[in-house]
Amino acid sequence: METKILRPSPSALRLAAEYIADGEAVAFHTETVYGLGANAFSDEAVLKIFALKGRPTDNPLIVHVHADYDISPLIDGEPPYAATLRKRFLPGPLTMVYPSKGKVSRYVSCGLDTLAIRVPSSPTAQAFLKAAALPIVAPSANLSKHVSPVTARHVDDDFHGKIPLILDGGDCSGGIESTVLDCTGEKPVILREGLVTREMIAAAVGDCGIYAMKKGERPKSPGMAYKHYSPRCKTAYFTGDRLGDAVACYREEEKEGSPYFLCESKVCAVLKEYNAFDLGGTPEEMARRLYSLLRKGEQKASLLIGIEPYEKEGVMAGVLNRMKRAFGVYHET
Ligand code: TXA
Ligand code: MG
Repeated sequence: METKILRPSPSALRLAAEYIADGEAVAFHTETVYGLGANAFSDEAVLKIFALKGRPTDNPLIVHVHADYDISPLIDGEPPYAATLRKRFLPGPLTMVYPSKGKVSRYVSCGLDTLAIRVPSSPTAQAFLKAAALPIVAPSANLSKHVSPVTARHVDDDFHGKIPLILDGGDCSGGIESTVLDCTGEKPVILREGLVTREMIAAAVGDCGIYAMKKGERPKSPGMAYKHYSPRCKTAYFTGDRLGDAVACYREEEKEGSPYFLCESKVCAVLKEYNAFDLGGTPEEMARRLYSLLRKGEQKASLLIGIEPYEKEGVMAGVLNRMKRAFGVYHET
């Protein structure tokens, strides 16, 4: 199959809508990462998404809708705090989990009685969702466990010849996946951290929890149980207070391979005599660059050595979560 990469012109959007109506998968730009979209009402189309990604079938999908789409037929009620958050943060990088009415394909939620809904703010995503005129399931458009895509080229690298169309909206400005928020209880609870932070949600509605999985428990957001976002090269990871050990690790690798550091700007400045990828100086910059640099790292480095940034709060909570998963050092509490 030929994979077209097109800007979202009227004719490209018409083509995208035709593919979706035919049960095909179409990749599209969002403000977080690129998504791999299909008709949420169609069992076949939804199963195709799992097959294309090699995604475990117990990891549910997010349904994407445009800003004027009425979600009330899909969800079974909305607590007042969720209505407040929806008005405050959508369209934007916040996914809200509601009780489901079971109207979309049963494969979307993988046996959960909830439905995750997202209204992306990217103009390309909005135009695509309007043209398709259907709720669209869309996981990140990467092969399962690989690094999420933040350019159309990244999507093409994973799915060339396997999907008919990538709607190219340019680089993703957010860079990490949306915040996933459980809105089925008395107060909102974050299942996956992202650019809409706990502090921002608590400021809007008074309180916000963070879900911490207990050992042996079935995860509320099953995707969080898997190793994720991994570059296809050897990796090592050090906290910022262990730069000496990190340099020793670099020196050892240098004998046979080509090590690179991945670290924030101020640490790059300290390590300026070594190969290093610069994550940036602010949390937003680090979110935006992380996945591109992980993909660049797997191409150039035999060993990628991550140095944990110093800042841990706010947007950095989401960045650190992705970084630790990519480097295989995430431990559930
Ligand atoms: O930014 C994003 O959210 C991107 C773009 C494409 O929109 N999409 C994305 O999808 O990251 P995916 O499939 O890679 O991650 C979806 C996450 C997983 O952790 C999944 O377990 C969780 O959302 N999820 C989906 N439905 C859920 C539900 N009903 N209850 C709890 N968690 C859910
Ligand atoms: Mg993903």
